[in-house]
Amino acid sequence: MPRIFSYNEFKDGIDEVKTYADKHSPVITCDDIAVRDSKFKVNVRIGKTIAHPNKADHRFEYVQLWDLETLLAEARFSAITFGRSPVMVEVDFYVVPLVSMRLKALAYCNKHGVWESEEVFVKVIDSK
Ligand SMILES: [Fe+2]
Repeated sequence: MPRIFSYNEFKDGIDEVKTYADKHSPVITCDDIAVRDSKFKVNVRIGKTIAHPNKADHRFEYVQLWDLETLLAEARFSAITFGRSPVMVEVDFYVVPLVSMRLKALAYCNKHGVWESEEVFVKVIDSK
């Protein structure tokens, strides 16, 4: 089992440590409420404010979206997906929820390991 890092482990460190954590941390953005059995967009961006290096030996290889212990979706990237400049990797996932979700994103940097987002709760309601 790999160690899983999170921004909160480093948030009280010196600026260089916070910068390191910032550019590795996935951030979930979505609505708080979804309609049952309807398409729902979940955006995941890696980096709170700072772009991550994007070289063959140092880049993000995948982003996963989890609902508790269930893997909902995964996006994989090649060495050229985002060109060669530093980037804030960003993915839009579309899911069709049946019940409320506790979402978390995981992202893998091939030099600095697996990083997790904060958990986001999405209440699922019936359409009116
Ligand atoms: Fe990295």
